[in-house]
Amino acid sequence: TRPLKVALLGCGVVGSEVARIMTTHADDLAARVGAPVELAGVAVRRPDKVREGIDPALITTDATALVKRGDLDIVVEVIGGIEPARTLITTAFEHGASVVSANKALLAQDGAALHAAAEEHGKDLYYEAAVAGAIPLIRPLRESLAGDKVNRVLGIVNGTTNFILDKMDSTGAGYQEALDEATALGYAEADPTADVEGFDAAAKAAILAGIAFHTRVRLDDVHREGMTEVTAADFASAREMGCTIKLLAICERAEDGASVTARVHPAMIPLSHPLASVRGAYNAVFVESDASGQLMFYGPGAGGSPTASAVLGDLVAVGRNRLGSTTGPGESAYAALPVSPMGEV
Ligand code: HSE
Repeated sequence: TRPLKVALLGCGVVGSEVARIMTTHADDLAARVGAPVELAGVAVRRPDKVREGIDPALITTDATALVKRGDLDIVVEVIGGIEPARTLITTAFEHGASVVSANKALLAQDGAALHAAAEEHGKDLYYEAAVAGAIPLIRPLRESLAGDKVNRVLGIVNGTTNFILDKMDSTGAGYQEALDEATALGYAEADPTADVEGFDAAAKAAILAGIAFHTRVRLDDVHREGMTEVTAADFASAREMGCTIKLLAICERAEDGASVTARVHPAMIPLSHPLASVRGAYNAVFVESDASGQLMFYGPGAGGSPTASAVLGDLVAVGRNRLGSTTGPGESAYAALPVSPMGEV
């Protein structure tokens, strides 16, 4: 079988982890996809940086030339931000590649246009990594629940703010003190605005609402309130009422079914609610639908490896589509691993 050619745009925390796993798990990936998966090029901003495990001959600073090569099967975009990511993705479609992206800002702003571009060229656009890192949410909503009717998606989709709020709750610290600790531990960025003002969560809410309700929801449609005003005193009052405070993203279908809303704001939740026990930088999302009832998704919502896991899952799915293996992994994808007896349980 011909190898599947993959180009990587961006080689930061997520990109380098994607490249590493592609190399170390090459045999497994080939078995899952049904063909060898070949790293054909890596576009970076700083070519002189040492990148262990990546053939220096693959590194280029010319991302545009890379996506225009014409022989690529899949372009993995992990640059982030609106431009040049948007132009590179559309150029990739025009030159015959499908795209896997982790870019929540871009998908929240221009998801509809990018889907239209993918459709126009008969290509795939997958972005599981754009929302809640490793936690499968996009494909469950887009595929597993496609025959159901989702009414609500609600949860914690920002790890940094959950870490800060958790710290305030468990130690009585004020916002600034907890933020300083999150920064020192590398959870919060030097400029924490996107997280603490709710922009990151709002972008994720826009993407989730759009997919859950089969409509277009843009970042500007999401009502957004950050968590910078939450105080130690608020936590003390919440405690007295048997509650804690979480920054929630809430996407709902109106009861009459005629509209949808998406919002992000701090909310009091009872300590008995499963979301109250989501600690540290973890994420958790409830999905409520007509036939399935309530589903809960929980796990690491950020970080290089968890996000790379979601990117690679998309890579396998898109790779299978490229090869026309409509039946999924198939019998040949399974290695003949011996099954050990369980012993005493
Ligand atoms: N800043 C984000 C978070 C990273 O804290 O959840 C993942 O999008």
